[in-house]
Amino acid sequence: MNIQKLFKNMWNSYSNLNPHVNRVLELFEKHEGGPVKNDHIALRTFNHPRINRDVLAKSFLDSGYAPVENLKFEKKKLDATYYIHDDSDLTRVFISELKLEEFSSDLQSTINSMIDQITDDELNKYDLCNSGVLWEMITKDTYEKLRNESEYAAWVATFGFIVNHFTISVTDCESFENLEQVNSFLKDNGFRVNDSGGEIKGSVEQGLEQSSIMSEDVSIKFSPSGSGKTNVPGCYYEFALRHNGFDGFIAGSADKIFESTDNIKSKSKKNCILTSEDSPDYDADGNRIPLPKINMTREQWERLR
Ligand code: NI
Repeated sequence: MNIQKLFKNMWNSYSNLNPHVNRVLELFEKHEGGPVKNDHIALRTFNHPRINRDVLAKSFLDSGYAPVENLKFEKKKLDATYYIHDDSDLTRVFISELKLEEFSSDLQSTINSMIDQITDDELNKYDLCNSGVLWEMITKDTYEKLRNESEYAAWVATFGFIVNHFTISVTDCESFENLEQVNSFLKDNGFRVNDSGGEIKGSVEQGLEQSSIMSEDVSIKFSPSGSGKTNVPGCYYEFALRHNGFDGFIAGSADKIFESTDNIKSKSKKNCILTSEDSPDYDADGNRIPLPKINMTREQWERLR
């Protein structure tokens, strides 16, 4: 497997789990009249020596990526590093890790017992960062307990190693001049923009402006089997606009962006529309025929899907 194939597989895992991201990409490509570029992908892990960010970064380093900068997120109890490649067609990679020692001994022992279940073979795989859950699925009760302390810990325990978000490079878009236009476009199409800390994080002066849509819920089967399904927030899509050649990240902005998987904090009653994924009709080529834009309440939308 090479790095391009790994990115393709990561996109497939991400979009299979969160079909709404296909609709976002489709809308942007249509608006642009061509392909759009990715600014960065983000991965999440814990600072445990077996699976910390250095371990997740290995495949990227082996493929020619280099670490650029370490960032600290004091409030979120996270450290992160981002990596870039000389080939500008290869997206930036951002890997964060939760500082386990800053949480309760209960949380630490839950996470440690998950990590103990990962085999050395699994850790040595090139696509470790796209290998999903490598431990016995947690129970709903464990999910709730983790979530009470850290939404991030609960997310990683539930989804394992997959991309948390891809990011459309608005910098490389020709049909959007600023993130206000991007956010209006997203809202007009029924998506919820994360407004924690304002819809746009960062500024022209800082060199980077970011916004994101909130995660959609994913239906999860927690342990034990047969206990039914529970809806929990999955992954989200981010939008980045860079200025004056700034290539890095801003800790204060990313702090708020992390909350895009925190749906409970900001469950919106805003109206939704059906996406083409929901269309029952196919054309002669087997493509779904897009649905007309129908605004409805979230409850109606969830019933129809
Ligand atoms: Ni990001």
